[in-house]
Amino acid sequence: MNAPKKRKTRSASKETSKEKRVRILFVASEGLPFSKTGGLADVVEALPKALVAQGYEVAVVLPRYRGTKAAALVMPSLTIPLANRLRFPAIVDGGVVSGVRYFFVDDPAYFDRDGLYGNSAGDYPDNAERYSEFCRAAIELVKHVWPADVIHCHDWQSALVPVLLRTSYGDDPAVKDIPVVFTIHNMGYHGLFPREVLQRAGIPLGVYHPAGMEFFGSVNFLKGGLIYSDYLTTVSKKYAQEIQTLEYGYGLDGVVRGRADRLIGILNGVDYSVWSPDKDKLIPMKYSAKDMSGKHVCKQALLELFGIAPEHAARPVIGIVSRFADQKGFDLIAEKALELMKEDVSLVVLGSGDRKYEELFLALASTFPGRAGVKIAYDNEIAHKIEAGADMFLMPSRYEPCGLNQIYSLKYGTVPIVRATGGLDDTVEPFDLEHGTGTGFKFAEYSGAAMMYAIRQALHHCTDERIWRRIQLNGMAKDFSWKGPAAEYAKVYEAALTLRGAGQASRNQMPVATSN
Ligand code: ADP
Ligand code: GLC
Repeated sequence: MNAPKKRKTRSASKETSKEKRVRILFVASEGLPFSKTGGLADVVEALPKALVAQGYEVAVVLPRYRGTKAAALVMPSLTIPLANRLRFPAIVDGGVVSGVRYFFVDDPAYFDRDGLYGNSAGDYPDNAERYSEFCRAAIELVKHVWPADVIHCHDWQSALVPVLLRTSYGDDPAVKDIPVVFTIHNMGYHGLFPREVLQRAGIPLGVYHPAGMEFFGSVNFLKGGLIYSDYLTTVSKKYAQEIQTLEYGYGLDGVVRGRADRLIGILNGVDYSVWSPDKDKLIPMKYSAKDMSGKHVCKQALLELFGIAPEHAARPVIGIVSRFADQKGFDLIAEKALELMKEDVSLVVLGSGDRKYEELFLALASTFPGRAGVKIAYDNEIAHKIEAGADMFLMPSRYEPCGLNQIYSLKYGTVPIVRATGGLDDTVEPFDLEHGTGTGFKFAEYSGAAMMYAIRQALHHCTDERIWRRIQLNGMAKDFSWKGPAAEYAKVYEAALTLRGAGQASRNQMPVATSN
């Protein structure tokens, strides 16, 4: 990426906060504190906060899922064309949380459902329509309520925003030139639909070609985001390289390579006000690098919670918190489960998702009662307790765009054992006995044997208290806060604004928003 030229008209810096601040609108399908299925929601909560701290004005638009409290109507009824019908979602004001403004797209028939993207029967069959409506509503929000200077989209569910801006809205001077930054959180999820969806979801037929959203006879939302956005980012530097390869590109590596000059890897950060053992309200006893005694208390409580027998308390406990998906490398654990349990360890696992992995871990717990404990659930409090109470944290991912749990683990003195891929590779440094450096253990080859080798290395070093403390402290000293990444995003926004400079100038003459 070329270094962006400094813009003269507007600046996000604090010194000029009396000037109108640059407005960034996040368009995402999930975000804390309202909705979450994975790390995307952590990012969509924490990055806007960090951008506000850098002087930006930030709003987030999310679907109003079940459980999101009713709030004031901003626009009671938008008119959105889908298929041969019109739909009438509302825009609801979600208030301001930590300086970030929230809006929801409210259409109960689409979003007031059990799960976000699907239920036990699988993905909802109308996901294309649901997120098409969401994207159109986000654009209307920008037109009528909150005129953003930059739109920042995340993953396939928001990908129609750039597609529509540059096609259906191509003659609309209010929005056609708004710069769009698109972040890839996961190349494994395309939003791939049959061709009929073009009509059902109101996608302009003109984008159905190989250099547009067409993908082997289907419609690919993610591809649309990759092609029609001004800048692409992804959530680690390593993953930015990996997705340009056949192995990790999920069939879109060629598209990504074609846009490599506009692709930037920016590592996710951590919100240490939430994920830090000296501040964590969800763990039995707080602790810090200066006084680790609380970690022992957390371990005892964790073992009890997972039914691990007291005689194993002195031995290492390996923790796992995860979506159960092929991405996460659990087939390696399936392959080596018995070998792993021959080691002097216990295992605590929290997760849900793919049935085959739920069954794997349940079988492990029943084969090794008192040594392997499993909870099939999504439970934030238990996730915190595992981070605090485990000795090691295992993430053998097949691929991992960034991964957050290994970064949380570092701060909790819970030594990560990871496969050297994506963000796992960028955040964990292998322990080096000679120099006393490094924060964890990693393996490169995707094989059960390589994973077991790394686990055995960790178990070996764990027997020496002094060495183990060194590894823990090395990890706890690392700083993965959002400040640095937010500054990197700021550069991308500036570059995107510069790129579309002319359009930006005309937008500045629009009336100022009515929303605050
Ligand atoms: P991904 O987004 O691919 O699932 P990440 O490591 O980026 O992976 O983020 C996962 C996030 O979801 C973390 O905040 C993690 O603590 C949380 N999480 C995953 N599974 C569970 C679960 N079963 N219960 C509670 N939190 C979970
Ligand atoms: C995705 C990725 C994960 C990443 C998260 C947030 O869900 O699987 O690695 O940390 O998004 O960017």
